[in-house]
Amino acid sequence: MKSNWLGKIKLKALLVYRDLFNALRARRPQAGGYPGNLPELREIIAHGARRTDFSDHLVPIFTEGMSCRPRLIVELGTRGGESTFVFERVARLCGAVLLSVDIEDCLQASAYPAWNFVKSDDVAFAGQFKAWCRKKRIQPEIDLLFIDTSHLYEHTCAEIKAWLPHVAPAGKVIFHDTNMQYFYRRADGSLDIGWDNQRGVIRALEEHFGCRWDETRPFVDARGGWLIRHWPNCSGLTILDRLPAA
Ligand SMILES: C[S@@+](CC[C@H](N)C(=O)[O-])C[C@H]1O[C@@H](n2cnc3c(N)ncnc32)[C@H](O)[C@@H]1O
Repeated sequence: MKSNWLGKIKLKALLVYRDLFNALRARRPQAGGYPGNLPELREIIAHGARRTDFSDHLVPIFTEGMSCRPRLIVELGTRGGESTFVFERVARLCGAVLLSVDIEDCLQASAYPAWNFVKSDDVAFAGQFKAWCRKKRIQPEIDLLFIDTSHLYEHTCAEIKAWLPHVAPAGKVIFHDTNMQYFYRRADGSLDIGWDNQRGVIRALEEHFGCRWDETRPFVDARGGWLIRHWPNCSGLTILDRLPAA
C-alpha cells in the first residue's frame, strides 16, 4: 500500500520534471517536412505535431515505406494505431495489402477498408502466415515488415527467427524501440518517460548479426546481407534493407 503511494509520488515528480524540462528546453514539435500536393503526407505531418513515443518516426516510416513500393506490408504491434495510420496511407498510395497483428484486439486502430487485422501472438502467427496468404490469394513475401511489440529480448529473438524468412529478396524491416531508456528524447529536444527494457530489441539484433553497437548514437552498418541504419531518438528506430546478392 505504502509502496503504491510512493510510486505515485515518484511518477508525479517525473511528470513535473518532464513538463518543466520541455517548457524550458524543447523546441516546437518538428513539422517534419513540406507536404506539397500529397494529402497523405499532409495528414501524417499534422498527426506528428502531437508529441508521442512514436511521433518522430511517422514521416521517416512514410518515406521508407514509399521508397520500397510495397505490395505487402506487415505490422507486428498495433495498439492505438500510430504506425498503422502511416502504413495505411503507404498501402493506399502503393496499392499494397496491409496486415496488422497484435495479441490484443486492436480493431478500432484503423478505418481503412482494405486493412487486415489478426489477433494473435505474432510468433505463433508466423507459422500460419503462408496459409493466411494463400487463403487471401496474396504472394507470401513481405516487402515491408514493421516490428513494435513486447520490446523484450527473448521475444524479439523469436520474432527475428520467425519473420525474417518471410521478407522478400528486396524487402525492408523496421524495428522500433531499439534505444529504450527511463527517459527518451525526441528530435525537438523534448523528453518523455519510457522504461528500461535491458536493451531487449537492440540486443536481439546484435545477437542475430554477431556484433555490438552503441544505440545511443546514429549509425550505419552492413552485415549478413543487410544494410542497417539506426537513429537513437524517440526510443530508437532501426531499419534493415536487404543488400543485393553478391
Ligand atoms: C508499443 S505497442 C505498438 C504501438 C503501435 N505500433 C503504434 O505505433 O501505435 C506494442 C503492441 O504490441 C502488442 N504485443 C505485445 N506482445 C505481443 C505479441 N507477443 N504478439 C503480438 N502483439 C504483441 C501489444 O498488445 C501492443 O499493442
